[in-house]
Amino acid sequence: MIYRLTIDAFTSTAETAESLRQVQGDRALSKSRLMLHDGGLDGAIAQYAAAPTPQVVIIEDEAAATLVERLEHLAEVCEPGTKVLVIGGVNDIGLYRTLISKGVSDYLPRPVTPRQILDALAGAFSDPQSAPKARFIACWGARGGSGSSTLAQNLAWSLGRHLQEAVIYVDLDIAFGTSVLSYNLDAKQTVVDALAHPERLDEVLMDRCMVEYDEFLRVLASPGDCRNHSALAVDGLERMLDLAARMASVVVLDIPHLWADWTEYLLTMADEVVVTAIPDFASLRDAKSLMEVLGPRRTGLPVPRLVLNRVEAARKTQLTAKDFEDTIKLVPQMILPFEPGPFGEAANSGQMLGEVARGHKASLALAQFAVMLSGKAPAVRKPVSWLDRLRSRG
Ligand SMILES: Nc1ncnc2c1ncn2[C@@H]1O[C@H](COP(=O)(O)OP(=O)(O)OP(=O)(O)O)[C@@H](O)[C@H]1O
Ligand SMILES: [Mg+2]
Repeated sequence: MIYRLTIDAFTSTAETAESLRQVQGDRALSKSRLMLHDGGLDGAIAQYAAAPTPQVVIIEDEAAATLVERLEHLAEVCEPGTKVLVIGGVNDIGLYRTLISKGVSDYLPRPVTPRQILDALAGAFSDPQSAPKARFIACWGARGGSGSSTLAQNLAWSLGRHLQEAVIYVDLDIAFGTSVLSYNLDAKQTVVDALAHPERLDEVLMDRCMVEYDEFLRVLASPGDCRNHSALAVDGLERMLDLAARMASVVVLDIPHLWADWTEYLLTMADEVVVTAIPDFASLRDAKSLMEVLGPRRTGLPVPRLVLNRVEAARKTQLTAKDFEDTIKLVPQMILPFEPGPFGEAANSGQMLGEVARGHKASLALAQFAVMLSGKAPAVRKPVSWLDRLRSRG
């Protein structure tokens, strides 16, 4: 099983397109998404100038003489880490070597069988180091009730739509988590069941404990009750998140407002941390102490992203973005006003803000923030050669 890959293929002959259609229907890819397009290499370059890249791009190209040069153009619009498989009309070991040295995962001379394509896909991820791993986004409220879960849920939903890739949202607020209400879910099993016997947890059990919200988003809900569940522990979470990392492109962690070994661990290891604060002194103090603890531990990782939520323009006593910037040296990355109308409607209907109030400013701000957190903005990136990319990855 090739798990949850997103693959785009750009073909230039009917024969290769037919082989790829058979690959699409293969059981090994039943959990993955393979999209077929025409246009070969030039089609791919045009597409990714305006859209995020998937994990794998398959290119069929005829013009061997200019292939290497045009692949450089593809590199300019591709995310680092995207695997590229090339199918061509020439069976030439020299060309094969050049392409591999430039960072292409494999070169297959035509005609290609479905089996050869499947083997090349499996080969591209055979090294555990290069296996696709999710990006972890940890959401934390500087104070209870600041809107952190609402943001986490909306961000997870937006990320799925933006990336068109699998996203997992994990509700870690065992006693009071709101995910089943906010997403209007009927969760028969929850994160508590997934963590009951971490040593027995595997992808099948994880799958069973999650509920699908839409095509991209799956939710590992919390029971949201005050029964006496066992306390969360770093070991079990590590195992669960290792699995989740292989099953999705992004994992959003909704971390409750409490300080324990495991919350500290998650906030330290996450690729991105989102701290939601409301504009008052208590939130400012708590955001400051969080920054003091996390700052030295998150070396090499981005500083937490601050969100100011529930800002009321008419309230004179509230703090400003500048107060936060001066005190904790963080510029808020998103400022959301207090909007009881759309937020209340979304909460009451068990839907996301972008579904009940699509064109609303807050929905657009959330969507934009999700794009930034995804690390995959649909924009032309700075030209970098395949070789430089390989070096920076190695
Ligand atoms: N910008 C906003 N305007 C109006 N209401 C909001 C806004 N953001 C969040 N809310 C509402 O605030 C309430 C609390 O939000 P939420 O449960 O997400 O907070 P939290 O930080 O996760 O709280 P807890 O500490 O209980 O986990 C919800 O009813 C939500 O709909
Ligand atoms: Mg919450």
